Amino acid sequence: MKQSGTIIPEVTQVKQPALEPAKLSVGGKAIDLQVTIGTEQEKAIDITRLRDSTGAITLDPGLGNTGSCTSSITFLDGERGILRYRGIPIEQLAESATYLETSYLLIYGVLPTRRQLEQFTTTLMGRTALPQGMERFFDLLPKTAHPMAVLSSMVQLLSGYYPELTNPNPTAQQIDEVILTLLATFPTLAAYGYRKGRGEPVVPPRKDLTYTSNYLYMMFGPQGGKPNPDEVLVQALRQILILHADHEQNCSTSTVRLVGSSRASAFAAISAGIGALWGPLHGGANQAVIEMLEEIHRSGADFSKVLAKAKDKNSGFRLMGFGHRVYKNFDPRSRILKAACDKVLVRLGIQDPLLDLAKQLEEAALKDDYFLSRKLYPNVDFYSGIILRALGIPTEQFTVIFALGRLAGWLAHWREMLLSPEFRIGRPRQIYVGPTEQKYIPISQRD
Ligand code: SDX
Repeated sequence: MKQSGTIIPEVTQVKQPALEPAKLSVGGKAIDLQVTIGTEQEKAIDITRLRDSTGAITLDPGLGNTGSCTSSITFLDGERGILRYRGIPIEQLAESATYLETSYLLIYGVLPTRRQLEQFTTTLMGRTALPQGMERFFDLLPKTAHPMAVLSSMVQLLSGYYPELTNPNPTAQQIDEVILTLLATFPTLAAYGYRKGRGEPVVPPRKDLTYTSNYLYMMFGPQGGKPNPDEVLVQALRQILILHADHEQNCSTSTVRLVGSSRASAFAAISAGIGALWGPLHGGANQAVIEMLEEIHRSGADFSKVLAKAKDKNSGFRLMGFGHRVYKNFDPRSRILKAACDKVLVRLGIQDPLLDLAKQLEEAALKDDYFLSRKLYPNVDFYSGIILRALGIPTEQFTVIFALGRLAGWLAHWREMLLSPEFRIGRPRQIYVGPTEQKYIPISQRD
């Protein structure tokens, strides 16, 4: 957000001096490959010249060993359970920051000064209303549409009202504008989709509320005769949004980068990111965890059966909310959310049997060698749904809340990519294993 007197550091590509080169021999041809080391001592073998030098590519289905970029936004260490946004531990931000403050930090790389945050917040909260005439499109959507389908569609539609913000080569000013526009209207799109999906009138946004409070207000309107949402609910949701705000190159953020790398607009990239997040292996897991816990509750909480099914490769069932591509120890977010569950439920005077179930299931799984040997621990989705239920958020909206939080990270990565000297369109290779050349047989000669 370029403001007079505001120094916003552009993305800096911090590359440490290279280590000893990696030596590779392919088909008897030996080559040296540069090894770069990041600021947290992560090492990467630079293979940008590999195919030219050896004719070979690397193969890494699921990309678990492949870095797609360098980034200064988020650092996570799966072995030590570390998660930092621009170097600041997630625990400190979850404890003390606002979501917009965290968004500014992720996107612009610095904690805003008091004045910068006030200006960012005031400007943004003044732009939460949808463009004139857009609301009617919600009435045309099938009531059976999943909230993530609605959100993804409406983000694309939003670009129709801001054609100037779909410029493939946006100026710094346009980048700031599209960031403000999406951050401001995303909660409104989400809340309108919820209300319209239930056939209820929308509750227009209020400029005088905080970002998080305004979302709850648009979702549920004034509650219990009080004009503003309960502060306990607001603080719980603030923490959830911050914990979900970024997570480096996860599936949906990588999707945003890949779509943005074709110079499609941020609206198109974010809409695609919403689609990727929807999947039950990714952000959709928070909904799937609650549905799993409800099923266990209904069927009498036989954990041994649930764990047996999760361990049976043929069952097609996984213990939702467990396991992670990167965290091979605890997910720091899950620890914070587990503690928050107890606090929020007590503050709200809620007894949720699913919380006790979740804790017992975690305990049972972490005694089972199948999970321990595969380093499968609760991830961010395992406890988040318990809190969202306590806030009165319906289960099918859970992944929308994940998207609300992750929007800041998606925008930060989109901006970093566009400004990076590494910028180029993403286009992975493949190894072809299909039929070798064969002739076309005319239909007259085929049975
Ligand atoms: C998120 O990437 C991110 O940063 C994502 C995220 C973010 O903030 O953006 O952290 C958010 O998406 C969290 C993950 C939410 N998904 C779930 O909770 C769904 C359940 N989890 C799994 O589907 C799985 O653990 C993944 C998808 C999270 C990770 O998949 P991987 O890294 O591809 O792991 P894998 O499938 O290779 O599993 C390794 C082994 C396999 O067994 P073996 O073949 O070695 O015998 O562990 C098993 C898997 O079958 N396994 C599980 C399991 N997760 C992995 N078995 C039972 N239940 C599980 N949940």
